[in-house]
Amino acid sequence: MSVLEQDTMEQDTLLTQVVSDRDSLAEVIEATALRATDPFSHKVTRTYLPREAAELIGCSPSYVNTLAKELDLDVSRDSSNRYRSYSLSNLRAIREEAARRVADTPEKRQRYLPHRSADEDLAIMAFVNFKGGSAKTTTSVHFAQYAALRGYRVLFLDLDPQGSASTIFGYQPVLIEENQSINAALRYENPLSIREVIQKTYFEGIDICLGGQWMTEWEQDTPRVMTNAHHYSAAMQERVPELQAELNTPGLTEDRIDEIEQELAQWQHVEDTGYAALHYYQRLRHVLDEVKDDYDIVVCDTQPALHFASQATIGASNHLLLTIQPEWLDIKSMHQYLTALGVHLETLENSVHFVGESAKYTGRTMHYLITRYESNDAAMNSIVEMMRDRLDNVLDHPMPKSAAVSQAGLSNSTIYESQGKDFNRGTFNRGLDAMNAANREIEEIVLKGWGRI
Ligand SMILES: Nc1ncnc2c1ncn2[C@@H]1O[C@H](COP(=O)(O)OP(=O)(O)OP(=O)(O)O)[C@@H](O)[C@H]1O
Ligand SMILES: [Mg+2]
Repeated sequence: MSVLEQDTMEQDTLLTQVVSDRDSLAEVIEATALRATDPFSHKVTRTYLPREAAELIGCSPSYVNTLAKELDLDVSRDSSNRYRSYSLSNLRAIREEAARRVADTPEKRQRYLPHRSADEDLAIMAFVNFKGGSAKTTTSVHFAQYAALRGYRVLFLDLDPQGSASTIFGYQPVLIEENQSINAALRYENPLSIREVIQKTYFEGIDICLGGQWMTEWEQDTPRVMTNAHHYSAAMQERVPELQAELNTPGLTEDRIDEIEQELAQWQHVEDTGYAALHYYQRLRHVLDEVKDDYDIVVCDTQPALHFASQATIGASNHLLLTIQPEWLDIKSMHQYLTALGVHLETLENSVHFVGESAKYTGRTMHYLITRYESNDAAMNSIVEMMRDRLDNVLDHPMPKSAAVSQAGLSNSTIYESQGKDFNRGTFNRGLDAMNAANREIEEIVLKGWGRI
């Protein structure tokens, strides 16, 4: 066999495999398409026993039962018909009723219904880091669900082209259409209103803007639009006054006036999109302005990079959560991240000069959240000690490596939507307690930002 024949055969084999694997995957994706476009049909949240419901709402189990009865709520019961359990929708109704009954005392009302007041800023939380696999998605989705269970109105933004968080919320990233993804609101050409992009999730209290492949478009569009604007700016400065002068010339035909107006509109479009791309790091913030009154907390999951979308997320956020697994390679990677972040934050601060005061942020914070921590690992403990010694704002509660979290993750799910009975009881309770403790501390960052504590 000649070398050429051998090459052709090898290529054929490779090509055959690629085509065959692609087609097999297409079949699988098609078969799950219905599930993927309708997460409500296959994702359900669990219900909560009176004791759990009472803990979440902040009252006694008997008060929960009383209010449910008085509101005549449709409540689930176990097979013996003895034990009630409450859905997320039940929890919301009970919360609202409890708050209504103490409407005269704002502090008590706020305990049941913690929505922010007009003088408290929308809390935009970004879970960030360079390092892939540092638990940004796991932690951000768990925090969003915890916050919703506590009664906050949450908007989740999946800003990662991998679309992992969208997957946990029941979508298949490859099947997300462009106009369903957050890119549709961020893009420079024909952006949609963010209201058209936001979707309800099966987890009541959380709305979502999906991520996925379309986010890579924004990464590519931003420098392209910026470069276009630079490229055309000299031509624009020359051409626009010429057109305006011609427009003022008497005796122009209707057709010519139309032509000139169309060309002027095109130049205006280049200028507007170019300006928007130049200020890309402000774009998410402006986009969110439209819906800020509908939410208390925005949770952003980002890609493991500091590209345009992550920079725009940082530009929008008032609280950064750096998730870090306590290992040396991760620490070194985080050092690189802090270097890049420092440069980006300087740009943001300088932008106040030309964007104006709106670029200013007050009360911005950054905290480190230790993730996938193993308390019996001596090397990890020495890194945690070093972090606490050297860095500001390392959260007290690390998120331990938990078999319950990874088991839930295997079915694209979280510990908050899992039933304890599907797990080893001790493992589940330990995982849940640790997750609650870490999330409570993150909630405190929000509450401090609002000046409540
Ligand atoms: N506390 C935990 N206990 C056990 N497993 C965990 C824990 N946190 C995260 N994991 C697992 O670690 C893996 C990586 O987590 P995750 O996808 O959240 O990281 P990421 O930072 O979002 O990754 P990427 O950078 O690719 O976006 C997942 O399989 C997840 O289930
Ligand atoms: Mg992720």
